[in-house]
Parts: sequence; C-alpha cells; structure tokens
Amino acid sequence: MKRLALLLFLAFPLLADAPEATIKYRSIVMKAMGAHMNAMSMVVKKQVSDRSRLPIDAEAMRNLSGGLPALFAKGTGPDVARTAAKPDVWQRWPELQAAAAKLERETLRLSQLAHGKDARAFDAQFEAVNAACTECHQQFRQQN
Ligand code: HEC
Repeated sequence: MKRLALLLFLAFPLLADAPEATIKYRSIVMKAMGAHMNAMSMVVKKQVSDRSRLPIDAEAMRNLSGGLPALFAKGTGPDVARTAAKPDVWQRWPELQAAAAKLERETLRLSQLAHGKDARAFDAQFEAVNAACTECHQQFRQQN
C-alpha cells in the first residue's frame, strides 16, 4: 500500500492543490486588489484629500495584477466547486489571458502616473484600471 502511494506520488509530482484552496486563494487576491482600488477611489472621488498614499496603492496594484491567469488553474471551475468563475474562463482561455494582460498594462501606467504631478492624468488612469476589472468580470465572472 505504501509503495503504491509512493508510486502514485512519483507519477504525479505536480498533483494540483485542492480546488477549494485555489478558489479561496484567488478570492483573497481579488479582494486585496479590491481594497487598494477602494482606497484610491476615495481619493479620486475627493472624499479624502491626502494623495500621498496613491503611489503605495498603485504599486501594490501593479504587483498584484501580475500573473493573474495562474489563479485559474484547470479544475477550479463551477463544475467542480462553488465559484463565481464562469466556465468561459477555461473555454476562452486566450481572452482571459488578454484581459489579465490588459489590467497589467493599465496598472503599470497607473503606478508611473502615481509618481508624477498630474493628478488629472492619474484620476483618468484610475478609471481605465477600473474598466479593466469590469471588462474581465463581465466576461468571466458570474453576476451575483
Ligand atoms: C482576468 C480577469 C479578471 C480581472 C482582470 C479582474 N478580475 Fe476580479 N474576478 C475575476 C473572476 C473570474 C472572479 C470570480 C472568481 C471566483 O469566484 O472564483 C473575480 C472575483 C473578484 C472579486 C470577488 C472575490 C470574492 O470571492 O468575493 C473581487 C472583489 C474582484 N474580483 C476584484 C477585482 C478588481 C478590483 C479587479 C481590478 C483591479 C479585478 N477583480 C480584475 C476575474 C478578474
């Protein structure tokens, strides 16, 4: 029995994590991005006047948005576990990758503008980042 287990272990060294764990993990990463976006949005909406933390949030967004497709391992869709990710994620994988790449580009630009003096340009770019989130959600995330 032990030998069999060892054999299986050797045969499948890259056995995937539990789907629920991957789903929880991507939910945490998404919520982290949501927290940084919510913080910046209070500044962009001028509810908070201190703009000094914008570079911190923008840099965090740039880092967090890297490599998002890795959060969507095969076998972590709604056919397997509770998730708001649509089957489209895996059926239209190149589009998922494109949507993730777009967010990466927009957050890179945001982090560059965060170090500049042009508040208007930053605020406009913040909307572009927001749109990149929405675009992906409309295609790949189950509403409610
Ligand atoms: C490449 C596609 C994609 C991009 C880009 C994307 N998301 Fe998501 N997001 C998803 C998918 C798919 C889900 C559903 C995941 C699940 O339920 O397993 C999701 C879920 C979420 C959730 C809900 C998490 C939960 O479990 O309650 C939040 C919050 C969120 N995203 C925030 C953001 C923000 C903010 C951005 C932009 C900065 C963003 N997302 C960009 C695909 C994306």
